[in-house]
Amino acid sequence: MADSYLNLVNTPLPARIAKALGLPRPSVLRRYTPSEALAVNPVVVAGSGPGADALADVLLGWDVEVRRHVLPGEKLSAAVVVLDAAASPADLAAPMLELGQAVRLLVPGGRVIGVLRSPADTTDPAEAAARQGVDGAIRSVAHELRGGATANGIILRGSTTTTDPTALGALRFFLSGKSAYVDGQFIEVSSAPVESISELAASTAATGEGVADQPLAGRTAVVTGAARGIGAKIAEVLARDGARVVVVDVPAAGEQLAQVANRVGGTALQVDITTADAATRILDHVRQRYGTLDIVVHNAGITRDKLLANMDASRWDSVMAVNIASQLRMNEHFLASPVFSGTGRIISLASTSGIAGNRGQSNYAASKAGVIGMVRAQAAAFDGGGRTINAVAPGFIETDMTEKIPPLTRQVARRLSSLQQGGLPVDVAETIAFLASDSAAGINGQVLRVCGQNLVGA
Ligand code: NAI
Repeated sequence: MADSYLNLVNTPLPARIAKALGLPRPSVLRRYTPSEALAVNPVVVAGSGPGADALADVLLGWDVEVRRHVLPGEKLSAAVVVLDAAASPADLAAPMLELGQAVRLLVPGGRVIGVLRSPADTTDPAEAAARQGVDGAIRSVAHELRGGATANGIILRGSTTTTDPTALGALRFFLSGKSAYVDGQFIEVSSAPVESISELAASTAATGEGVADQPLAGRTAVVTGAARGIGAKIAEVLARDGARVVVVDVPAAGEQLAQVANRVGGTALQVDITTADAATRILDHVRQRYGTLDIVVHNAGITRDKLLANMDASRWDSVMAVNIASQLRMNEHFLASPVFSGTGRIISLASTSGIAGNRGQSNYAASKAGVIGMVRAQAAAFDGGGRTINAVAPGFIETDMTEKIPPLTRQVARRLSSLQQGGLPVDVAETIAFLASDSAAGINGQVLRVCGQNLVGA
């Protein structure tokens, strides 16, 4: 499962050979460790206006060295370009060119983060052009960065300010190693109802204190398909962040499931999620042991690949049953139950195949695109309340599922992203833990790709 080329090309002689031959040179990514500093080097905040000034002040409060302009030769951990006041395309030039200077000085694993307003929130053509323009510019920067650096954007919806707790939560996520494999992506944030943001999240937003603590302390999470792969890692990361975790998988995976439950100090529940009483059994288990269900991660998923011309009903039906029909049915039960929290979170696993399509995966892509449809419709129903639902769409992740891909195809698939490598289960898990936290209370109905800016459907 290990990417041996990635390891090889990060040693001196092979690195020189790869450079000389023009071969891909993926970098070892800067991933989260509990003791990590958000920024070791200074962070430049480019852009003018009250939104940029306020954001720079917050970063100072987080003990980050902040620069409002690039200083010649000074290495930077990150560059935040604040364009929330852009009213016409002409307003982009100065801050983007400043960003260009900053990009030259980024350390390996550095971050570029754009902060902008949504084109959907204006009817002024010039303003919409400016806002949409930022989208294109940031995605292009993400393609240009090297050394494991990433570029992403935070889109402020409505009157959300640059220092809204959810905007700051997204900023912290993008600055940290938790977003290592999220690249070329945008998160839309709205002001969340006050009751769905805990004191911890509010104080973290204001002072940066409390971040290392456990943002999911006291929460109960259910993770389906948790006996192995991405699901097992999600369970681990949610537990690390303080959640009590119920891990769910089919009875055939019972032994592995018990091991995961032991490792995360949680409980195991052997349930096939396609059965009619799956949600009732999960709710009963949670009610009896923990009282309230706060976080649901619909991770269980299967592939049964065939060209549509050769597809049979069993392949089509089994994929739809596990990957989408079960989620729809379980959500209906969860939402009708008093056990599901008023500030509950649902996070579903989609896939880049569900966004771009993939040869031989019409059934899988239908199910994963279905997840996206479900999430958007449910999010509209949640809007303005305390609950949220979002999807995470992984690209190529190193798991048993992708281990089944023929070796040569697998090598090519790994390099087809801006980061030139597959992601790890932990990359998906960190994104899900972020979406489950109070800091993400204003993020609803989003589909966040964890794909290293995979070129497919980007
Ligand atoms: P995996 O095959 O390693 O693990 C899936 C788990 O789901 C297994 O433990 C399996 O027993 C369980 N499961 C299957 N059917 C079930 C059912 N009816 N009831 C309960 N549990 C069931 O898969 P992996 O790679 O960890 O993927 C996890 C999720 O991420 C899936 O939804 C997958 O579609 C999605 N994904 C994975 C990508 C990758 O590159 N590995 C890329 C895009 C999406």
